[in-house]
Amino acid sequence: MRTPIIAGNWKMNGSLALLEDFGHAFSEAALPESIEVVILPPFPYLANADEAFEASLVQLGAQTVNPEEQGAFTGEVSASMLKEFGVRFVLVGHSERRTLFREDDSAVLARARAALNSGLTPILCVGETLEEREAGRTESIVLGQIDAVLGELDSQQRRELVIAYEPVWAIGTGRTATPEQAQQVHAAIRQHLHAYEHELGNGVRLLYGGSMKADNAAQLLAQPDIDGGLIGGASLKTDDFLAICHAAG
Ligand code: 13P
Repeated sequence: MRTPIIAGNWKMNGSLALLEDFGHAFSEAALPESIEVVILPPFPYLANADEAFEASLVQLGAQTVNPEEQGAFTGEVSASMLKEFGVRFVLVGHSERRTLFREDDSAVLARARAALNSGLTPILCVGETLEEREAGRTESIVLGQIDAVLGELDSQQRRELVIAYEPVWAIGTGRTATPEQAQQVHAAIRQHLHAYEHELGNGVRLLYGGSMKADNAAQLLAQPDIDGGLIGGASLKTDDFLAICHAAG
């Protein structure tokens, strides 16, 4: 019913050589047709990635976008520019952007809007810190981050979104949420989406992110409300990333 997505966020990693490896590995290896696969390399590699993945089912994503269309914003990239390079998805609200680059909820909303206006699918990232989890605030933090964006969009726009639950304490730490912990938050998110509109809860894909790896992906992906993964470290190795794609297919 909901097509799973496996998305590889390379963050500020990779090289032309790695891109070439992925291009070969993913055009030769049969990918499950029942899933969507997305790779999100750093900006300078997008043009090459568009070519490298031309013969495969891999789609392209970007890691961020500036809300403005064009102008004097040194160092920034707009949604229409991403579109020209075959980009289909863009991350908004990744915890590294929220903390390291001080993007607050209104900055996340502006980026989601810019993406939607250019026909890109925003992958809205949400998640609590360890401190927030231990204080019993996981759901209020996560649902609050979702409302800050969804509450400002119309019904059609909300349906275009993908949401990624990435507990901050699980990102890059090797400490994965257990399948039960992840499912619990995913179920709460889905229930919350149902409250907006029944169809929204049924249709929106909810990805899990945070130390997902070849050896824990199957258990996480087997949960009823987990529709895929947003993978960092393990998306930099062709074999590991392929194994995760197969666990989803
Ligand atoms: P890791 O898979 O390295 O924990 O990163 C997750 C993430 O932040 C993906 O966006």
